[in-house]
Amino acid sequence: MISLSDLRKVYRTRGDREVVALDGIDLHVPRGEVHGIVGESGAGKSTLIRCLTALEEPSSGTVAIDGVTLTGLGERELRRQRRRIGMVFQHVNLLDARTAAQNVAYPLRVAGVSRAERDVRVAELLQLVGLGDRGDSYPSQLSGGQKQRVGIARALAAEPAVLLCDEPTSALDSDTTRQILRLIRELRDRLGLTVLIITHEMSVVREVCDSVTLLDRGKVAQTGPIAEVAGEHGSRLARSLVPLPPEPGVAGRTTLELAFGGGTPAHRVLAAVAALGEDVDVASGTIETLAGTRVGRLRITVPAAAVASSTARLRAEGVHVEEVAP
Ligand SMILES: Nc1ncnc2c1ncn2[C@@H]1O[C@H](COP(=O)(O)OP(=O)(O)OP(=O)(O)O)[C@@H](O)[C@H]1O
Ligand SMILES: [Mg+2]
Repeated sequence: MISLSDLRKVYRTRGDREVVALDGIDLHVPRGEVHGIVGESGAGKSTLIRCLTALEEPSSGTVAIDGVTLTGLGERELRRQRRRIGMVFQHVNLLDARTAAQNVAYPLRVAGVSRAERDVRVAELLQLVGLGDRGDSYPSQLSGGQKQRVGIARALAAEPAVLLCDEPTSALDSDTTRQILRLIRELRDRLGLTVLIITHEMSVVREVCDSVTLLDRGKVAQTGPIAEVAGEHGSRLARSLVPLPPEPGVAGRTTLELAFGGGTPAHRVLAAVAALGEDVDVASGTIETLAGTRVGRLRITVPAAAVASSTARLRAEGVHVEEVAP
């Protein structure tokens, strides 16, 4: 379980300028949940992870892992608690001169685990990430996805309660990405891990996350279970979770975007569209099943002169409508 409460981080740069990187973050990720953190460059994602691993000291607020508050701990206790947190990075940073097995064994050696116990653990861990037969391979002999698996096994060596992943699949192709995400879910199921994934790819959120938070300039702009935020029609996360292809506009006609799913069943949207009469046309549409809930968006065009009346009639039927800027 990860709990952040009113977390603030203010960096002081040269010339005494202040950068508010995190501006009062409240976040609660229950045990066993996979939570995504998204947001534009500079939103504070990496700062959030650094505060979680206590690499960075928050300016105020608290960070707690499984009920243990990390903020304010002494150096020794902090080091002990850090072992409860596994980290997976975009670039794996394996030791090139060591085999996969030796890389996984490394944190166990540092922690003073005996040789015999280490060998057993490393074999188990490599098995767990699907590399049971590759322990003797050197990093240069492994594919990008296999290296990331070794990185995940290494992160799990100290039996962490929490796995923090910073862009874990950004350097991988789409098939390998899917395999790694599947592995993360399996590990969550088997080990009861709480997982936090920082990503700029909405496909990662769609595929692996139970819940998601959108950060915007250090603040939580939107947060919740995937199906719920996708059903918040017109919201930024709904738009990016259920994207529509760009389409050329038609002269003299205006595009309206309708949302369905969640509390708005498709048949109600379709009936309301049909009731607009013969002037309406379909431009594009998309549907996604997110955490078992179907959510979609439909774009229609109407004559420019009929925008106000069409919008009013659709809204009267309880349909979420927005005009798409040309
Ligand atoms: N050590 C630092 N000193 C001063 N400012 C910093 C420092 N680290 C980050 N910042 C600032 O804090 C803000 C948040 O940065 P952060 O690295 O957390 O963003 P991010 O969401 O991870 O972005 P990206 O997607 O580009 O990695 C930015 O305005 C950044 O310039
Ligand atoms: Mg970053």
